[in-house]
Formats: sequence, structure tokens, C-alpha cells
Amino acid sequence: MKILGIETSCDETSLGIINDKGDILSNLVYSQVQKHIPYGGIVPEVASREHVKAIGWVYNLALEQARTDIKDVKLIAVTQGPGLQGPLLVGISFAKGLSLALNIPFTGVNHLMGHIYSCMLDNATFKPPFLALLVTGGNTLITLVEEIFVHKLLGSTRDDAAGECLDKTARLLGLEYPGGPAIEKAALGGNASYYRLPVPLIKEDSLDFSFSGLKTAVYYLVEELKKKGKEIEVNHLAASVQEAVFSALLDRLARAQDLTGIEKIAVVGGVASNERLKYRLKEFTEKRNLMLNVPPSVLCTDNGAITAFVGLLKHRHNRIDDDIIDAQPFLTLQD
Ligand code: KG4
Repeated sequence: MKILGIETSCDETSLGIINDKGDILSNLVYSQVQKHIPYGGIVPEVASREHVKAIGWVYNLALEQARTDIKDVKLIAVTQGPGLQGPLLVGISFAKGLSLALNIPFTGVNHLMGHIYSCMLDNATFKPPFLALLVTGGNTLITLVEEIFVHKLLGSTRDDAAGECLDKTARLLGLEYPGGPAIEKAALGGNASYYRLPVPLIKEDSLDFSFSGLKTAVYYLVEELKKKGKEIEVNHLAASVQEAVFSALLDRLARAQDLTGIEKIAVVGGVASNERLKYRLKEFTEKRNLMLNVPPSVLCTDNGAITAFVGLLKHRHNRIDDDIIDAQPFLTLQD
């Protein structure tokens, strides 16, 4: 059995094909990033139009690379949300068209689950129970995965996501888009203690996150430096922001681990491709003797293979609905 995964929730048109053992046969990602650079962020209509243009050839290439005939695909899994409405509708319409034309069942996938279960796609021996810290551009949450599809949400962001904080800060500092990788690059030559920034919610006994205050703190710091005619040391500021964000993530992870005693940790989503974060996670998990799973970057950022994998898990757990699927831009982990 082969499964086709279609992911168009944001600015990547990605189609991946896996088999029923969970082997990745192909995982094509067309990034629209160049189209959005002039705007300094993602423009939903531009993203939708780019998906419409790209999805046909990405589909053909995904089949070709996987040496697969579409007739051998027994399930189509498509991202249903959360994400941008227009882009989601492109992927869903494409999936539905294929499904109707070729009589292949299709199922909607919660994108957050795609990220969470990416750790199992990469490592089949990594099984629940585990703690998953999900850090993307749109979400930051920590959940206990007790069993496949049985989650206990421990905390989530009250405002901005960690990735969004990095993206907005990068924009403020005049760095290129997307901001996360740009901040990582700039921070390499920076001193994280040069500017003092608050670590969000550090004193609060909670598992929630908040990053809008940090974003505002950076804004006021930049304004103050400008007013005083002082130079903004971009490298130091990038390092300071990055460190404050990661300290908040590590603090919540430590609390969640204390609370649950769970010894397996997965860190997933686009921000998990950051090398500095990986270094700090390694330090943290080694000190506590925990098992750490951070999937490779290509599986951390948005891609079709993780969508296909949730389709496979739904198939294994008899959860294929094949009913009316609509785009759900605000889908949560509990939906
Ligand atoms: O998972 P993802 O590709 O898309 C969402 O589902 O949101 O995550 C995108 C986020 C963006 O905020 C981007 O700046 C951030 O992940 N990101 C990074 C890095 N690569 C991507 N943040 C920090 N360091 C990176 N190397």
C-alpha cells in the first residue's frame, strides 16, 4: 500500500509518497519563499496562486521519484488545517479531484499531528508515551502523547508562536525573510548576553508560552537605541532574542518533564531545525538522561511525507473518515 500526502497549508507546495512500512519513497518540496521576500512575509493570495501553479508538476515529480503509478496509491492524505484558507483549499481541491477521478479514498490531516508524528516517521522505534514540543511559525505547544491519537495538551502559546517571534524580530532588524534561519545565521557571530531581554513567563508556574511581550521588548529596545543614536548590534540582538526564546522553550520542557516523568522527548516543527536549539536540547536531555528525538530539518519544516504518515496512522487505527472535508484554518490539536 502506498500513500500520497499533500501539504499546502502555508508557502510550501509539498507532495510525498510513503509505503505502509513508513518508508519515504519521495518527498518533494517546492518553496515559494522567493515570491514572498519582496513583501517581508507571506501574502495569502500570492501563496494560493503559487500553489495552483506548482501543484501539478510537483505531483508528477513526486510520483516519478517514487517510481510509483498513481494506481498503486491506495490513500490520499491532505492537510486540512491549521493554515491559510486559500492555500489549504488548493491542496484539498486537488486531493478531492484525484480521489473522484481515480476512486482513491482520501482523508484530511491535522497539520499539527503531521508535525508531532514526524518523530515516528523518522524513527520507527520511537513510540508513545512521549512528550512533544511543537515549535512552528503558527504554533507553540507541549503535549503528552499517551498513545497514537491520544494527546494530553499540557500548554500552548497564549499569543504569538516562537517562530513568529523570530520572524517578526528578524523583520524589525532588517534581516531577510524567513526570519528564523536569518536570526540563526546572524546569531552565530553574536553574544547572547550583550542585550538583556526577558525570558517569557519564566517565573510563572505554568506550561503555557507567550512570545508577544518579548517581541515588544525587542521593539522598544531598538527604538531606544535609535533615539540615543546608538548602533544596533544586529548579531548580538539576534543571539539575545534566540536565547530568550529557547530558554522559554527549555524551561517549559523541564516543567513538563518534572510533572509527567516521561523520559522520551520529541521536538518538532520548523524551529526545531535550529542548530543552537538542538545543542541546548541535547545538553538538557543528557543531563536528565532522557531520550531525544529531533527529526531531520526536511521533516521539521512543512512537507508532504509527514501528512502521508498521519494518513497511514489513521488507516492503521481505523480512522479514515472519507467524508466531507473542508479547510479548517484554525484547527487545534483537540479537534
Ligand atoms: O513548521 P514550519 O515550516 O511551518 C509551520 O507549520 O509554521 O515552521 C516555520 C517556522 C518559521 O517561523 C521559520 O522562521 C522557523 O520555522 N524556522 C526556524 C528555522 N527554520 C525555520 N527558526 C529558527 N531557526 C531555523 N533554522
